[in-house]
This record gives sequence, C-alpha cells and structure tokens, in this order.
Amino acid sequence: MRKVDIFDTTLRDGEQSAGINLNTAEKIEIARQLERLGVTIIESGFPAASPGDFDAVKRIAGTVKNSIVTGLARSVKSDIDRSWEALRGAEQPHIHIFLATSPIHMEHKLMKTPDQVVEAAVESVKYARRFFPLVQWSAEDASRSDLEFLAHIIGKVVEAGATTVNIPDTVGYATPQEYGDMFRYLKENVKGIDKVKLSAHCHNDLGMATANTLAAIENGADQVEGTINGIGERAGNVALEEIAVALHIRKPVYGVETTINLHEIKRTSQLVSQLTGSLIQPNKAVVGKNAFAHESGIHQDGMLKNPLTYEIITPELIGDAATELVLGKHSGRHAFKDRAIKMGFDLSEEKLNNAFIEFKKLADRKKAIVEEDLMVLLTDQQIHD
Ligand code: KIV
Ligand code: ZN
Repeated sequence: MRKVDIFDTTLRDGEQSAGINLNTAEKIEIARQLERLGVTIIESGFPAASPGDFDAVKRIAGTVKNSIVTGLARSVKSDIDRSWEALRGAEQPHIHIFLATSPIHMEHKLMKTPDQVVEAAVESVKYARRFFPLVQWSAEDASRSDLEFLAHIIGKVVEAGATTVNIPDTVGYATPQEYGDMFRYLKENVKGIDKVKLSAHCHNDLGMATANTLAAIENGADQVEGTINGIGERAGNVALEEIAVALHIRKPVYGVETTINLHEIKRTSQLVSQLTGSLIQPNKAVVGKNAFAHESGIHQDGMLKNPLTYEIITPELIGDAATELVLGKHSGRHAFKDRAIKMGFDLSEEKLNNAFIEFKKLADRKKAIVEEDLMVLLTDQQIHD
C-alpha cells in the first residue's frame, strides 16, 4: 500500500497562531509526544526567527530520534546557516526553505520579478544541499500562482537538488477540485518530479483544509503537512488527527497508510491544548469533547443496541475514554434506565417511570444534567414507598 508521510508543523506554523507562545521545555514535551504519535517529520521552529526558537530547534534535534526534525528558513544564506547550526546534530538533518511564487506576493511582498524568484529559489536549494541531505522547498501561496510558472520553478528546484517540494494553499483559497488538479498537473508536467516527494500544506480559511488535503492525497501527494487540533495562522492549518483518522476509516477509498499511532491522538491533542492554552471547540471532529457524546433518545437507543448505528469512529481508536450517553431533554427512557442500572439502582418499572418523568421536567429547566441530579431523583424514588 502507498505510504503517505505526516509532516507536523504544530511547533512552527501552529505556534504562529495569534496568542500562542511556547517555551523550549514545552516545545520539547510536545515534540516527544509527536514522536510517540509516530509523525514522520517534526517542524520544530524557525531557527533564524529568535534565539529562543533556535534553542528549541537545536534541543529537539538532539532529543528526537524516531522522527525527522526540520526547521523553517527563508531563501537566504544567513537563514540556512543558522538552520544548519541548529539542526546539524539531528539524526537526518532536514531543512524547509520557502519562497513565494504568486504574482501578488512576488510583486508586492518580495518586490522581485519571476526570474529573480527562480534564481533565488535555485541558489538557496543548491546552497542548502551543501549541508543538508534532505531539503524541502515550498512555493508559498502556490494555489494563487500561475500554474505554468509553478511547474517551471519546481522543475528548477528539483534540478538544483530539492528532495521534497511543497505546494501550500497558504491562504486557504483553493477548492478540493482545484487543489487536487494542481497535484495531478504537476505530477504530469514537471520533469524529475517522480524523484522527489510532493507535499500538501493546507490552511483552513474557508473550512476546506481537510477536504483539500485529502484531494491532494487522491492525486498523488506523498506527504501532508498540518498541526494538532488544527492550530495555526488565522483559521489554522489542517488538523492532522482528522487526516490520520479519515485515511484509516476510509482506507479502501484512499488506499494509503501512515505511521501514525492512532491511540496516541487524544493524549497529543490534550497536551497541545494545555500547553498552548488553545481550547478545542466541543464539536471539533475526532478530538472535541462532544465527538463521542450522544444526547437524543433515538440516537441513544441505537447506540445501546449497536454502537455502529451512530459512531463511525470508536473513542478507543484514538485513545479516548468510552462513549458518553449524555442525559438531557432529548434523551429517552432506554438510556435513562441504562444509566440508573450503571449507578447501582434496581428500581421497579413504576418507580423508574416516576423518576423519568421528574428527570424530563428537570431537563427542561436545566442545561446540563449532572450525576448528582440523577442521584437525587433516583434516591428519591428508591426511598419512596
Ligand atoms: O502556509 C505556508 O505557505 C507556509 C509556508 C512557510 C510553507 O506555512
Ligand atoms: Zn502554513
């Protein structure tokens, strides 16, 4: 089965989220957990950005052994030199160089002509290959770039020695169809592309990062980049846990495998949330608090008869606690009885009915029914003659 590499950028693009700032100790703790999770590559920071980032990248490069460790660099020698200083101690030194290729970025941000951009990209890749065995080159804002120009510059960086080429949807603008087509076009039109890895990097500005990443995989992407819990610039990056679980659950559709240990997902998600202070929305796919919670009576009844009726993923798969049947105003008698038995009550049908009637009245008044509420209702019936 075709293998897809998972490139985690929680510690670089993820840390670029407004309000997130991790210190070196926190970054090392997350990097160790990412290694346990089984990601192929950890982007541990941007060594030239600050002494703190440099230190964290260097320490992670010296600590992590089972994942490749990389750092981000602009296409300038000073960034590449700084990255080499930070990453030379890694098992397999890897650098990630980027340069924008869209007309708006080249003209208004870089103030370079397309030819100058090609030259800078080629020079930086050649220079990086003097030190690094693994060089990833990213065409920033690729999805808003001219496709022929993109194919041209990629051909040049491949010739210059890049080992991976990344095609970011930097501003989350592409649709799944467009993004998938880009991968197919580049695979078919760039000389030497089959000798390098082609990578997808999606942002979530229009909520399409997961769909776009999966479209890239369907069209031949060898590597996908994202973050845990989808943290990242603006609306964030693609959430890697969603990709890993989708590829697992829909294996016959995608036909690829990753090295992710799915049982480590929940723990990784919680660690990242705690250390970054970035809360997870309750209805977040895969790792949200409600991802395995069922409230409606019809759903709860189905779940009690056969969990596959309403759950395509089991909480155990991602290392989560068991499914929760939340008792609220939509819940049915079946789930109420099930909970009463689990709480140790053995009531007659009549007493159970009375308790259920009281529970429904309470559920209309109260947003959340907690264990103590049930205890009072059920005890009341138990001691009532
Ligand atoms: O979104 C982006 O384009 C990036 C690059 C630096 C790869 O994060
Ligand atoms: Zn990005």
